[in-house]
Parts: sequence; C-alpha cells; structure tokens
Amino acid sequence: MPESHDEAAVTIEALMDEQRTFPPSAEFRAQANVNSESEYQGGEDFVKYWEKQAHHIQWRSPWTEVLDWSNPPFAKWFVGAKLNVTESCLDRHLVDKADKVAYYFEGEPGDSRTITYRELYHEVNQFANGLEELGVRKGDRIAIYMGMVPELPIALLASARLGATHSVVFGGFSSDALRDRINDAEAKVLVTCDESWRNGSRVALKEYADHALEETPSIEKVVVVARTKAAINMVEGRDVFYHDLIASQSGEKVATETDSEDPLFILYTSGTTARPKGIQHTTGGYLLGAAVTHKNVFDIKDDDVYWCTADIGWVTGHSYIVYGPLANGTTSVLYEGVPNFPDKDRFWSIVEKYHVSQFYTAPTAIRTFMKWGSEYADRHDLSSLKLIGTVGEPINPEAWIWYNQTIGHEKCPVVDTWWQTETGHIMISPLPGVTTTKPGSATMPLPGIGADIVDDEGHSVPLGGGGYLVLTHPWPGMLRTIYRDPERFKDVYWGRFSKPSENKWVYFAGDGAKRDTDGYYWLLGRVDDVMNISGHRISTLEVESALVDHPAVAEAAVVGRADATTGQAIAAFVTLKGTVEGNETLLQELRNHVATKIGKIARPASIVFTDELPKTRSGKIMRRLLRDISEQRQLGDVTTLANADVVKEIADRANSAASKQGSTE
Ligand code: WTA
Repeated sequence: MPESHDEAAVTIEALMDEQRTFPPSAEFRAQANVNSESEYQGGEDFVKYWEKQAHHIQWRSPWTEVLDWSNPPFAKWFVGAKLNVTESCLDRHLVDKADKVAYYFEGEPGDSRTITYRELYHEVNQFANGLEELGVRKGDRIAIYMGMVPELPIALLASARLGATHSVVFGGFSSDALRDRINDAEAKVLVTCDESWRNGSRVALKEYADHALEETPSIEKVVVVARTKAAINMVEGRDVFYHDLIASQSGEKVATETDSEDPLFILYTSGTTARPKGIQHTTGGYLLGAAVTHKNVFDIKDDDVYWCTADIGWVTGHSYIVYGPLANGTTSVLYEGVPNFPDKDRFWSIVEKYHVSQFYTAPTAIRTFMKWGSEYADRHDLSSLKLIGTVGEPINPEAWIWYNQTIGHEKCPVVDTWWQTETGHIMISPLPGVTTTKPGSATMPLPGIGADIVDDEGHSVPLGGGGYLVLTHPWPGMLRTIYRDPERFKDVYWGRFSKPSENKWVYFAGDGAKRDTDGYYWLLGRVDDVMNISGHRISTLEVESALVDHPAVAEAAVVGRADATTGQAIAAFVTLKGTVEGNETLLQELRNHVATKIGKIARPASIVFTDELPKTRSGKIMRRLLRDISEQRQLGDVTTLANADVVKEIADRANSAASKQGSTE
C-alpha cells in the first residue's frame, strides 16, 4: 500500500462508524425511472445493457457493432453509427417540446432570460452559421472562455452542430492557462465574453484573452459576447461581437453528420505532471452515457426543473448542464454567479423562484452552507425539491446529514455521484428508487459499469478492505485518448494494473477507496499528486512549477492539506534563491504569481519559506512528511531523510504560518 493509504485508513475509520441507512421511500420507489432490483444488480452483459439503452438518443444510421475492444485500451462504441449530438438535444424536441423551457437563465445581478427548446434550436443554428462564415469546419477546434451565460451552452452546441471540437477553458483560469490550452489544441476560433459577473464584480475575460492571444498563432477569429457591455478592445479583422455575427444568420442549419467516434470535445484536466491533459471525448457513446445516467440518477420526469450548480468550464457542466439534460428534453436552471450574492440565500431563492425539483452541487458548497447556518435555507420554500445530489469530492457524513435534513427536509433521496472528467458520466452512485444510501458512501457502480478495489498487485481486495479504485471494463462515455498523446493515455490510465499478455485491461482512476461488507464504495480521495480543492483537480506539480517560475524561487514543494470547507487547501513550501529574503510582501507576490500562471483557484492558502526541503537520500521530496507537517500530525521516523534536522524547523514555521495565513481565502 502506498503511504497515502495510511491516512486514508484514518479517514475511513471515521466514515465506517457511520451506521445510518436511508432506504428509498415506498412512494419514491413506486414512481422512480429505475426501480427494479434486477436491473440494479447489473447481472446482464454490459455490452447488451448499453445497446438496450441506445434508443435514448437519436441516431442517423445504426452501428455494426456495439463495442470494438480489439485494440485496447482504445475503445470504439457504436461502431460505424452516424449522428449529430445536437439532433438529440434540439431537433427532436421540436416535435413535442418546442415551447418547453430548456434553460431558465438567472444572471448574478438579477436579470433573467427564459429560453425554450425552439429558441435554443434557433440560436444554436444562427451561431453555427456564424462560425461557419468565420471558417470553422468539421474537425476544427474551438476554444471557449466564458462566464456562465446562455451563449456558453449555445457555443458548445454550435460547435457540435458543425462537427467541430470544443475545448472549454474555465473562466477562472488565467491568461497563461488559456494560452497553453489554445496552443495544445491548436484552436482556430476563440469564443469569449467582454466580462463576466462574479460576486458583484466584473471579471475582465476579454482582457485576459487578449493577453493570451499574443502567443496563440492558431487563432484566426475571436467572437465576443457582450455580457456587461463594458468598453473593450476589439481587434479589427480578428474580433467580432456575437450579436453582430448572428444577427443576419439563418436559424436553420443542417447538422453535419459525424461518426459515433468523431471527437466532440477536449477538456483539460490536471494529472500528475505539470502539463494538463487534454481529455478527448467522442460523440455517440458519450451522449448516451450522459443522457441515461442523467435520467436514472436524478430520476428526471418531464415536468421537472433541474439545477446543477457547476460551471460549464468543468466536466460536470458539460455532461449535466448541457448534454445529458438537453438530450432528455429537461428544463434546467442556468445560474451565472456565486451562492452569496447579494446574500447567502441566493441558491435557495433560486430554488424557490423556479420550483427546482432536482438540485446537484458540490460537498464544498454544502460545507460552506453549513458554516453560514440553516437560517438562509429556512427563509425559502424548498418544498419543490424531490432529489438532491453531490459530486466532486467525498462528502463527510455530517455534511450529508445536514444536506438531507436542511435542504432535502428528509424527503429527498441524496445521490452522491462519483465520476471523473475522464469517465464522461456518473459511474458510482445510488439509483434513487433502488439503493439504500449510507451517508458518505457513493454506494455502488451503476448498471453497465464495472468497478473493483485492488491492492498493489492488482488483486481484488475482499469486502471490508481498501485499496485502489479501478474500472474493469469499457463504458460508453470513457475518454478515448489524451489529445495528441496516446502513449500517455495508455500509460497513465491503463499502465498500472493491466496485464496485456493476459489481455486484461484495467482502468486506474487515481482514487483510493474502501468497500464495506455490504459492497458499498467509500471514496477516500486521490492517491497520486493531485489535490482536490473545492472539488477542482489541481496538480501539485503544476503549482510547484508555477512557483519555481518566479525569479526568487529556487525550489518548491506543494501538498494538499485537509481543510474543513474546501476539502483540501494548497500548502506550499518554498526555498528561495541566494540572498533573497522571505517576507510577507514576497509571500503575497508568490501567491499572486501562481494565480497569474494558473488561476485564482490554484493560489496557495499558505506558503512556508524554508532553507531546505526534506528529501530522501535519493533526492526525492518527501511530500508525505510535508502533508503531516501541514496537518500538524505527529511526525514519524525521519531518519531516512538526507536532511532530517530541517524537519523541525519547517514544522515550527508551518505552525505559525497556518495560524497567521489562515486556511483558505
Ligand atoms: C473526485 C468531477 C468522492 C475523485 C466529476 C475523482 C469524488 C475526481 C466524487 C474527479 C465523489 C468526484 N466522491 N470523490 N462523489 N466525485 N470525486 O475530473 O477524486 O473534476 O477522481 O470530475 O474528483 O474530478 P473531475
């Protein structure tokens, strides 16, 4: 077992004390989309299962084979089938749902816009025509760097309409991060906003984009959505306003036919190196997986109003604000801003205003609401809620119980959903009409999904034991590769536990987990060098290289330390060059430097200056030890270190830094 499992074991002991169970009510079970125990057991062949689900989306022509796994780990799903994902999301709803609301958009300042399926269809086509006029063709990459406005899902869909590939870069990322992602994907067009609203302030997206665009030779055109109508710099011949572009365009556009395995999008995510990975998803299998899991896990009915609070800049927004809900013809809420603007009850006022029936958010948000106190939720009528869900990180039982009581009023099933950017859709989750839930457990793999927990040698760990979470067979929404780096894809995800000589292919998710004696999965967090800050993946190496990029820094080590609200907080240890002195000014400068290199979410919560970093005799930085120091744990044996005496000094400085710098923003 790797070192991190010792810590995981401590976490799990606390979780395992959790004895409470919550079976679905008879009423919920009776009306649920999935309520047959047999289906949940997933006894049937997974390929057959997915083929049976295939009718959920619209195909132009069928497949010759459901799964081609002849060249593992490169899978093909629905081989040879043709479709355009927007026909499932838009065209087919014109028959019976044209006037149904697709999105209730709620702007942070309080403005709102209601968009029906007909209107969405119309505007997506207009934008697709506009993009085509700008030169976008099938297979081109379109970078998208926007706030959460209706034009964001419209941009994704317009890209898909043309058979282009979108690469959304979260609007909180910095110019540098945007530049690197544009360049890796060689995007031809960038879609952005003048500014976005965040916490009552303006975020200067176009200005950041302009900075990035100084070094992005592939970009030919920039489309700018005027959200705040701020005066911005527009480059003649390159930049065009969205509203000018679409004004003269037709609302009809024949969708470009794509193959089931043509690319739909790239989404960059942090791994164990400093370089983000472009996760490549394709069309048929991805859309099917997103649609089916959305319908079953959230128990979506035709008259529901569903709200996922994620940002479309992350995979949760791709699958559960855009593709899954639209494929199911669902009415969704799309909210632009933060939960505490203008006051801490904003989310609950939105639930009340739109009669939200399903609410899907992150544990870090729930812990924040707990901290703020129940009175903000109690101010509002939440009786429209039927189901509540979480995603992004393990939820501690205490937060689960608070969520169930204060938001769900003990009548809403809680679905804790485990999945990843790479998996495309939910993998481990309760089925609300079937599964008895346990607070803190994502419960069991969904039908058609194979998971296991294995030890260092890849052997399945018996019930009651812990180890590495793996996925044991392909699934339709799986990533197909890392963009332009198939070797890395093979190595990172399939290299650890697969046995190619026995034709045994096992996907390693990077998470530790334990299974209880009932077979329930309890997620324990990452076992690699990836931190989970407020449900967002950030690589320790990415932050380290951002720090070392600063002229004053000689060496840096970064660890995620436990934080009561954000799950983990970034703790950095820095040695400075030569005679540079580590003072408060430099400390702030370094934090801002990381924000500039990556984005504010990656800004270290604390930085400790030290003359040396603890290293093994082979020169490896002992991150484990730094984590112990950061979490103020008893330090174990440090005699294997090359420089054991620096440890006490670092620990002393870390203690005073933690009390001075606080844990989060
Ligand atoms: C973590 C987000 C525990 C996990 C959809 C995973 C979770 C990483 C859960 C993926 C959950 C996500 N319980 N941990 N319900 N959901 N995670 O790619 O460590 O942003 O590997 O996808 O988040 O993060 P990503």
